[in-house]
This record gives sequence, structure tokens and C-alpha cells, in this order.
Amino acid sequence: MRKKVTVVGAGNVGATCAQELARRDYADVVLVDIIPNYPQGKALDLNQAGAVLGYEPTITGSNGYEESADSDVVVITAGKPRSPGMSRDDLVTTNEAIVSAVTKEAVRHSPKAILVVVSNPLDAMCHVAKALSRFQKNRVVGMAGILDTARFAAFISQELDVSVKDVTAVVLGGHGDQMVPVVSATNVGGIPLEELMPKSRIRKLVDRTRFGGGELVGLLGTSAWYAPGAAAAQMVDSICLDEKRVLPCTAYLEGEYGIEGLYMGVPAKLGAAGVEDIVKLRLTPEEKKMLRASAAAVRDVVSVLKKK
Ligand code: APR
Repeated sequence: MRKKVTVVGAGNVGATCAQELARRDYADVVLVDIIPNYPQGKALDLNQAGAVLGYEPTITGSNGYEESADSDVVVITAGKPRSPGMSRDDLVTTNEAIVSAVTKEAVRHSPKAILVVVSNPLDAMCHVAKALSRFQKNRVVGMAGILDTARFAAFISQELDVSVKDVTAVVLGGHGDQMVPVVSATNVGGIPLEELMPKSRIRKLVDRTRFGGGELVGLLGTSAWYAPGAAAAQMVDSICLDEKRVLPCTAYLEGEYGIEGLYMGVPAKLGAAGVEDIVKLRLTPEEKKMLRASAAAVRDVVSVLKKK
């Protein structure tokens, strides 16, 4: 039987994620948005693209949740994106209300789903989705690490003029400017990055990664969508196909990495049950310190939430 995936928010990120999933051809996709006719129009366009590209899932657009019933995975991209000058954290109150409403409705119709949260500020919105759904921690996971890691890997590949396929990069922590690119675990074709580049160059790429989202907001006037949409689809693949990939995800930590009761970016095994394991990387003392600072920044945003 085909899988069923609902993507809430048919805007830039949601529609890109839906398109990526449609092209995989293993799941029917439901796009939900509050704007009348908008998700229906996107779904019609995506279905017609299937005739050109040769995929055949049913893509349905809706302003309600009936069509989304019994989804295996619900991806939440509803919410406001950033405008120039805004941090992700500036969105907290607006997007808390949106993600709360969306989570309630989505889980009422799909009580067995796994939730993949994309709306920002990501770590805090995972807390909202977990609180409102009352799901176990393994069934609520956030997308940020794949995107942050992809940015770091892309910068490294450009700098060294090597295929991005051979760059293994690791970024942990919150999805904010205090994220932690883990240089000690980053390598190219098995060679540690620190042997391939002077420290000063690495520092520049680390900084560009940390502010990678802001660089795009500056160029586009809104936040990015191709890489975020593709990253969310990769997580859906691993869950729906039970791939058990180890991917950087925003998962609920209860003591791992010395962090208690907080959503943070860590390497996690993603499979049919959602987050099936959290992988513990050995970090340098400096990286541990940065991770603690990142956790403190996430806690500040979480403390603003009405419901945690
Ligand atoms: N229910 C359903 N859809 C909603 C709701 C709601 N309550 N509120 C807003 N939306 C929809 C909007 O109508 C819009 O179509 O969410 C969509 C968001 O799309 P965009 O404005 O294009 O934003 P996008 O770039 O996709 O970013 C969405 O993902 O990466 C994050 O920071 C980003 O929080 C932002 C989210």
C-alpha cells in the first residue's frame, strides 16, 4: 500500500517538499493551507508535472484536514518566514499560534503519524508540536540539521573544489546563529577537514554556515526553500521507507550530550518509529562548550512559549 504524507503549509518550503516527495513516487501527498484555492492550485500543478516527469502519486490540496486523515507522516511548514533583519527567534509568538492550531488539527485526523516540524524558530516549534500532540518524544522531530549540514558541506566543497558527495559534515545544536559545526567530525573522503584547510579558513566557513539562513534572507527577501524542502523530504524518506538513516535532526534530549528536556540538533537514527536512537558523538571540550551555549540560547526562546 502507498504511504500517505501530509504537508501543512503550501508555501515555498511546503510546496518544494511536496514536489520532492511526489517525484519519489512512494506516497500520496496532501497539501493543506489556510489560503482558499492555494493548496488546490499547487496540487493541480504538481499532478500535471507528473505527466511530464513520470510520477503518479495523487496530490490533493485542501483547506481542511479531512483529506489528510491517517497520514503516516505530517510535515509542518505553516507559519511566517523571516524578512530581512529578522532572526528566526523573532517569529516565536506568531508561529507558536499557527503551529499549535495546525498540530491540534493534524493529530486529530492522523493520531498515528510522525510529525516533522519545519516552521521556525525550529527548536521551540518542536516543543509546541510535542506539547499539543501529546505524542511520545520519538514521534515529534524537527528539520534543521540536514539543512545546516548541507550548507556547511556545500561551502567546503566549493572551497576545496571537490564533489559535495565526498564531504561528510556535522552540525549540531539549535537552529540559530549559535549552531555548532563540529569540525572534529567533518572530513572529505575520510581526511579530517583540519588537515585540508588552515584554521582561519575553517572559521570563515563555520561563520558563513551559522549565518547561512540570514545570507539567503538578505538575497531573497524571505527565507530559503529549495534546500529546506529537500531536507524535510529526506527525513520523510527515512521514516516512510524505514531506512534507519543517521541524520542530523532536532530531537528531544533527556540527558544525551548533558542536555535535559530540550529539543536540539543531534545525529539521530530515523526509521518507521520516528527517532529510534540518538547517536553520541565524541566532542572536543571547545565543541562541548559551544553546544552548551547553543542549548542556553534555545532555552531562552522556549521560555517565551505559552505552552512548552
Ligand atoms: N494553517 C495552514 N497553513 C498556514 C497557516 C495555518 N494556520 N498559517 C499560515 N499558513 C501557510 C501560509 O498561508 C503560507 O502559504 O503557511 C504557508 C507558509 O509559506 P511561506 O509564506 O511561503 O513560508 P515558507 O518560506 O514556506 O516558510 C514556512 O518554514 O523554514 C520555515 O522559517 C520558515 O517558519 C517558516 C516556514
